[in-house]
Amino acid sequence: MGRITRLPDDLANQIAAGEVVERPSSVIKELVENAIDAEATRLTITTEYGGKKLIRVEDDGIGMEPEDARLSLERHATSKIKKADDLGAILTLGFRGEALPSMASVSHFRMRTRFRGQPSGTEIRVNAGVTESVVEAGGPEGTLVEVADLFYNLPARRKFLKSDAAESAQISRTVTQLALCYPRIGFVLTNAGRKVVSCPPVSTVADRLYQLYGDRPDLVAVEREGMGLRLHGFVAALAEQGPTRGPQHVFVNRRIVKDKTIAHAIFDAYSVASNKERSPEVHLFLEVPPDRIDVNVHPTKAEVRFKEQSLVHEIVRRAVADALGRGPAPELTLRPSDLIPGRPMAQSIPGVLGGGNYPNRWAQVPAASYQPGTTTENIVGTGSGSALDVAAAALSGPDAVQRGIEPRPAPSGPDAMRPLIPLGQFRDTFIIAMDDEGIAIIDQHVAHERVLFERIMQRLTERPLESQRLLVPIMLDMAPAERHTLISRSADLERFGFEVEEFGGDTVRVAAIPAILPRDECEGALRSLANDLEGLDRGLGIEEGLKRIAALTACHAAVKANYPLTFEKMTHILEELRATAYSSICPHGRPVMLRITRREVEKNFDRI
Ligand SMILES: Nc1ncnc2c1ncn2[C@@H]1O[C@H](COP(=O)(O)OP(=O)(O)OP(=O)(O)O)[C@@H](O)[C@H]1O
Ligand SMILES: [Mg+2]
Repeated sequence: MGRITRLPDDLANQIAAGEVVERPSSVIKELVENAIDAEATRLTITTEYGGKKLIRVEDDGIGMEPEDARLSLERHATSKIKKADDLGAILTLGFRGEALPSMASVSHFRMRTRFRGQPSGTEIRVNAGVTESVVEAGGPEGTLVEVADLFYNLPARRKFLKSDAAESAQISRTVTQLALCYPRIGFVLTNAGRKVVSCPPVSTVADRLYQLYGDRPDLVAVEREGMGLRLHGFVAALAEQGPTRGPQHVFVNRRIVKDKTIAHAIFDAYSVASNKERSPEVHLFLEVPPDRIDVNVHPTKAEVRFKEQSLVHEIVRRAVADALGRGPAPELTLRPSDLIPGRPMAQSIPGVLGGGNYPNRWAQVPAASYQPGTTTENIVGTGSGSALDVAAAALSGPDAVQRGIEPRPAPSGPDAMRPLIPLGQFRDTFIIAMDDEGIAIIDQHVAHERVLFERIMQRLTERPLESQRLLVPIMLDMAPAERHTLISRSADLERFGFEVEEFGGDTVRVAAIPAILPRDECEGALRSLANDLEGLDRGLGIEEGLKRIAALTACHAAVKANYPLTFEKMTHILEELRATAYSSICPHGRPVMLRITRREVEKNFDRI
């Protein structure tokens, strides 16, 4: 006699349950998805003891006729697909016909359902996969499913469940995600008699977000459509303060998924915008035509496969990047009492009028002013001019095209930053500018640093930065750890135009530096770089390392505080800033610009 036998149905179901039903929250996900597929508009979810004792999901969907109700508990019985072709373009959340029989095989299961327009319904009870009773029953139209004592017949699985509190927390997370994704459906979740989620139907994701999370001015809207794909939702704005971590909700065709491509695109967008480490809060919805995605690749459907992975990456990255760039500049409020003549203005705008030397952990050299004319003579091949001229010429000046770094065109459309007209410079540190909507105060160093950082990062993706060979190499004496750090990064540094090598003893020889960096900034830049990278070296990825070098190079190449600017140079900085996607915040997360709105001015002059 052969050794192979066909497994009995209840055992096959238990095996399937091992994949589909991992914990109470996965039962809830399956039941809610079934209700959504059945066109429900209101869902009531009840749990006891973290769902281990009881899970009940009640919906007002179309319900099932008696025969369908019986069939729904058989394995591979589904109303959602009929033939192999249907798998190629799935429009429903379920399609495998596995969820109900799986959960019924590992619990005390009860289903009561009444098809729309029918006078009565059906109630079915199943214990550990064995049908106990099928009877005619009353009850409202729609379906109620109860899963009690999950895994009671599989003690080994039950042991793996976490504490009631942990399972409850996971249930609320799952229900929150589902609720976010389906704003038009009302959700009520109760655990141990306590209402945890209560969201009446609303019409937009923004309204649902408000129901779930309250007012969130720290989120910015994302919206992009192209090549048949659409991405929308909300992501955490860049901010100096505030959390850098939050829930990451990604939905593809209204399914909760974990997708590496999308996660990477989000990471990319944030890491160009700011080098603060973060795992930002996002609520993103991607819509993909069903024939360009495979949803049948994961047992709990938590993953999908895109036909055009790089297109998805690009759309998500760009959409998030654009949204981040649109974060508004902080607005200043004027208080009339502060404007009494003779009173120092510094009180009304703290930190701004008092001078521009903000502490900056990157720039450990003193923020000395540039002496115009002294910065460039030592650099071979560059004409005379100020540091700003050099930086501007190297990255975006007239020969930019020849060097392959075209300035970005200024964004257009209603969201684009309006051109600002410089009015003058305050304390040689802040550019005061205006447009139709008000007055802006721009930190010249931070603004220029932002512009250069972005140009450097953009440029690096194509080729190394322009390098300037020094006629007389710079010799730097350094402590062993710093020296070692610098030399070990010499290949990375080369991409920025630095050429550093060991010279013997404590000395490092610098033969070339980035064209944008004035020679007298070079020593300070390399020392702070060595210092900074040394502290961070362990576990610092290449990307992160490059970003830090870029931020530091930008900081040292940027025009400093206490440095007089001509109108042309101010205009140049403002123009460049306008073309920069992330113009409201510097690479270290400090604001670039403060605004006093027209409304604020008019209000304080009693004009409105
Ligand atoms: N709440 C419900 N209202 C109406 N019909 C339902 C409901 N839940 C399940 N059904 C019916 O029972 C069938 C089986 O449900 P089940 O969840 O087991 O499989 P599925 O949803 O088709 O696929 P999957 O296993 O991928 O979830 C469904 O195809 C649907 O016709
Ligand atoms: Mg289902």
